[in-house]
Amino acid sequence: MTSSTVAQLLKQTTLQEVEVKGWVRTFRANRFIALNDGSTINNIQCVVDFENTDETLLKRITTGAAVHIKGDLIESQGQGQNVEIAVTSIEILGDSDADSYPIQPKKHSFEFLRDNAHLRTRTNTFSAVMRLRSSLSFAIHKYFNENGFYYMHTPIITGSDAEGAGEMFRVSTLDQKNPPLTETGEIDHSQNFFGKDTNLTVSGQLEAETYAMSLGKVYTFGPTFRAENSNTSRHLSEFWMIEPEVAFMDLAGNMDLAEDFMKSVISYVLEHNMDDLAFLDKRLTDEEKTKPQAQRSELSLIEKLKFVTENNFKRVSYTEAIDILRNSKPNKKKKFNYLINEWGADLQSEHERFLVEKHFKCPVILFDYPANIKAFYMRLNEDGKTVRAMDILFPGIGEIVGGSQREERLEVLKEKMAVLDIPEEELWWYLDLRKYGTAVHSGFGLGFERLVMFATGMSNIRDVIPYPRTPQNAEF
Ligand code: 4AD
Ligand code: MG
Repeated sequence: MTSSTVAQLLKQTTLQEVEVKGWVRTFRANRFIALNDGSTINNIQCVVDFENTDETLLKRITTGAAVHIKGDLIESQGQGQNVEIAVTSIEILGDSDADSYPIQPKKHSFEFLRDNAHLRTRTNTFSAVMRLRSSLSFAIHKYFNENGFYYMHTPIITGSDAEGAGEMFRVSTLDQKNPPLTETGEIDHSQNFFGKDTNLTVSGQLEAETYAMSLGKVYTFGPTFRAENSNTSRHLSEFWMIEPEVAFMDLAGNMDLAEDFMKSVISYVLEHNMDDLAFLDKRLTDEEKTKPQAQRSELSLIEKLKFVTENNFKRVSYTEAIDILRNSKPNKKKKFNYLINEWGADLQSEHERFLVEKHFKCPVILFDYPANIKAFYMRLNEDGKTVRAMDILFPGIGEIVGGSQREERLEVLKEKMAVLDIPEEELWWYLDLRKYGTAVHSGFGLGFERLVMFATGMSNIRDVIPYPRTPQNAEF
């Protein structure tokens, strides 16, 4: 007989002999094992005939132990489950020292669980989060596959800095204590592994653009790296980004695509992950109860997800947003840390969250930003001062998507690069796209962990990626 998963057994209606392997969550009254194997948030109850079980074996059934159970699937005698297993044999596959096992059957703080990230998926919360993470990534590939996109793998090591932000991790094999120097005393990167200075990529966009200009519709979904020293609950130094890029699509098309895509992947988990979502919904509701009334969310997790799938995102220009912010209560009462005085100000997350959570109370797409607060590759508008950029802002998250229509005019792009001191030699291939069959094209980047935060209701980005990398932290 082959083992079944707990998920299969809980759904099974034929009552017969079964086998299952998993980890003991709890063992009550020398009789009831709550067993979990990761296949579902739910445990299966396994009832041990303790009178006929060896006492030393009973002692080894401890929280965290790996066990192989054989028995009969029967209608449950107790409440809370339809079926349970009347155990006929139990084999301990791996003992667990009950005293030192970090994941005790009680509530642990997320900070404590971060320190034990290798074991935290043995809790309900983290197993639910990581199953949702897996499901969302499948839904993303499914969406693009069904909509005619090709999945491309963009390089992780790069010689160019896509965002021009200068916040990259250097990749080097040079002797760090004694690097070779040029005649002028600079580090001689011609002797480095790639014969040039290279970094971990901050985005796959520029390479994705090259493929969009031949394959039409493409996307990348890979790790990206940013060496910014921002220790916030929404920033990681290593995060995953989804970046579609589409030829012949303008900014309006880009917004339509982003909105349809976000709704589709959220609908997918509403359809396929209800057990986990119901658990996380309750968890969040309990957490909200500990907050002062004024800070509580009006909607539960599942309501928030449905709200996104059922309502149109509000599209607002940067200029309109500035007007709203300038006249807002927190601005007038000087409650914002950064006051909005004039057009051209960069928006901070406090402003984004005001717009989404207090003013519009729905996802917002902000577009047509001032050129000088956005990246060099964005399409300049006819007004000469704004670019066809768009950011999608989500409640509780702030910016979740950043994208734009790309500058397709060679001369305009070159001028922009000259102003920003971006050497043409470095991006000759990017400029080539504008020389040979250039066309309107657009794309965006979705921060995957921010999506997982939204879909799970987790408030710290460190809790939605298996092993978070943040300043001063690269454990595991
Ligand atoms: O707005 P960003 O920087 O845009 C780009 O990188 C473009 N090249 C995307 C494109 O047009 N193809 O980043 C995109 C998204 C942000 O909206 C945010 O969700 C996420 O990536 N993000 C981060 N997520 C976690 N930690 C960080 N440090 C992040 N920085 C950006
Ligand atoms: Mg951005």
